[in-house]
Amino acid sequence: MNAMVKAEGVHKSYGAVQVLKGIDLEVAPREVFCLIGPSGSGKSTFLRCINHLEKVSAGRLSVDGELVGYRQKGDKLYELKDSEVALKRRDIGMVFQRFNLFPHMTALANVMEAPMQVKGVSKSVARERALKLLDRVGLADKAGNYPSQLSGGQQQRVAIARALAMEPKLMLFDEPTSALDPELVGDVLDVMRGLAEDGMTMIVVTHEMGFAREVGDSVVFMDDGVVVESGHPREVLTNPQHERTKSFLSKVL
Ligand SMILES: Nc1ncnc2c1ncn2[C@@H]1O[C@H](COP(=O)(O)OP(=O)(O)OP(=O)(O)O)[C@@H](O)[C@H]1O
Ligand SMILES: [Mg+2]
Repeated sequence: MNAMVKAEGVHKSYGAVQVLKGIDLEVAPREVFCLIGPSGSGKSTFLRCINHLEKVSAGRLSVDGELVGYRQKGDKLYELKDSEVALKRRDIGMVFQRFNLFPHMTALANVMEAPMQVKGVSKSVARERALKLLDRVGLADKAGNYPSQLSGGQQQRVAIARALAMEPKLMLFDEPTSALDPELVGDVLDVMRGLAEDGMTMIVVTHEMGFAREVGDSVVFMDDGVVVESGHPREVLTNPQHERTKSFLSKVL
């Protein structure tokens, strides 16, 4: 089976600063892939590369069998045009630490917007689907609320529904719960757990080790732009082999 995400020697530099120093990994379809590591290790940068928000400096990165940012013809690579990149980005849902909902739109309108604007879905169909998605994230009764009338956890669940509205084949989560009050984290993780059960392929940058252990199929520990250690959550989290992993886990567990 083809990998959903395959990274081979992925490098990313900003000027002279090397942020990713050769990332090799594979995410299988339906896998829940958790990415952990200290601040500045390159986790967000890697997600941004997968989502076509950054171009890799060297190496190869592909999503669902297609190179990110390039088209291959024979043994030559051609950079994709912005319009082609935008088309590919549609298939990937991204949820950030900050929810970035449109403040002047209700929860319902936030979820309806992209399918209508980007995919040309009719208003009635977009509405029907958005209501189902809001129900799925436990917010059927909040459809008419504006973001300012929702808790952080509720806003984050709207953000998840909004990403799902584009029917992505891959969901990227960048510390989706780290800006939330502790009592709001559980509801968001429950929604993510439900997505995992439904077979969504997910890459989750998280400090929630409980989630990684219970829901993750694999855990990768990144430090300073490289993958230090990876494997089943049980192994990596309870029996880490590398000093750097041990030291990181002793701080977050
Ligand atoms: N646009 C940029 N220009 C220059 N340096 C950058 C840029 N974006 C990120 N970096 C640098 O890349 C490194 C990795 O950043 P990144 O945001 O990927 O880390 P992270 O692992 O997500 O950290 P955190 O856990 O704090 O979110 C940092 O040292 C950061 O300063
Ligand atoms: Mg980050």
